[in-house]
Amino acid sequence: MGEKKIYKIGVVPGDGIGPEIIREGMKVLRVAAQRFCFLLEEVEFDFSGDRYLRTGKLVEDQDINNLKKLDAIYLGAVGHPEVPPGILEKGVLLKMRFELDQYINLRPVKLYPGVETPLKDKKPEDIDYVVVRENTEGAYCGIGGFFKKGTKEEVATQLEVNTRYGVERCLRYAFQLAKKRARKKTVTVVDKANVLTYAGDLWRRTAHQVAKEYPDIKLDFAFVDATCMWMVKNPEWFDVIATNNMFGDIITDLAAITQGGLGIAAGGNINPEGVSMFEPIHGSAPKYAGKNMACPLATIAAGAMMLETIGEIQASQTIEKAIIKATGEKYLKSLEAGKMGLTTSEVGDLIADFVKKI
Ligand code: IPM
Ligand code: MN
Repeated sequence: MGEKKIYKIGVVPGDGIGPEIIREGMKVLRVAAQRFCFLLEEVEFDFSGDRYLRTGKLVEDQDINNLKKLDAIYLGAVGHPEVPPGILEKGVLLKMRFELDQYINLRPVKLYPGVETPLKDKKPEDIDYVVVRENTEGAYCGIGGFFKKGTKEEVATQLEVNTRYGVERCLRYAFQLAKKRARKKTVTVVDKANVLTYAGDLWRRTAHQVAKEYPDIKLDFAFVDATCMWMVKNPEWFDVIATNNMFGDIITDLAAITQGGLGIAAGGNINPEGVSMFEPIHGSAPKYAGKNMACPLATIAAGAMMLETIGEIQASQTIEKAIIKATGEKYLKSLEAGKMGLTTSEVGDLIADFVKKI
């Protein structure tokens, strides 16, 4: 027997339902680690609205240095009703995404068997694509300001930044993913090149250039508004979507609903050369906090993505199979908070049990 591999995982439970869903996610990850013979060293970080209200602290530069020593980060949810909008988002979530240069926000859109979709007549084989959202620039760059604030002539600007470097690495990631998935072998660049002509032009020119490195992958373009329509009408058209930060944010909420809702949708903030962070795409849902009612499947699925990224492929696939068994065999009545027919911890126990045996 060789030495067991040890992975250092930063665990950020966060606010609201964050701690209870992360508890279930860790439960499943520990069982997977035991079965597949690796070790998880958990390092907890209390980045949260609660801590901010108590201490005024967000994610500090020293925290970033500590996070850089990890193999991956597992995040519940950050968001607190008493903290004004923007503070935690910018000071915790975006701070980590930016400082750790997690330049891809990877959001698989997959309808699992047994999960109800609001899309009429669509089946699991019709809804299976991935959104590659640029995650460190675009409208999220934080450049802008006020002029004559508080007066009748007030002006607010909010700049969108697209760098050749940032766009190119995002597109290259999308092409590599389309190659690895080996499905429709298509990258669809989603933009608004008919109006946002400078940004659109940069993305499209770059896409054509990167596409030359991948002769077996088809390059397609779609406007973001039309894409919203097709995601509902013909989701089977998509394989890998590549898009900017803001469009990616918006279309992945729509996508999440088509795959059964926020109870199941997971995402990864990826730095292929550094430390990546995995999270359910839902928020902290304060009204369900502490009630053992929220669905932990999105967090558990994010844990599976984390294991895949650190290289524990078999463990990752086993967790995914366990989720599919739970949904496919209707162990849960619904994926909505309070309507599952099981508590948050019972769902965690169920998946952990399947991961042991499946
Ligand atoms: C998401 C969220 C974040 C985003 C917010 C909380 C800053 O909506 O992860 O999609 O806009 O990226
Ligand atoms: Mn969002």
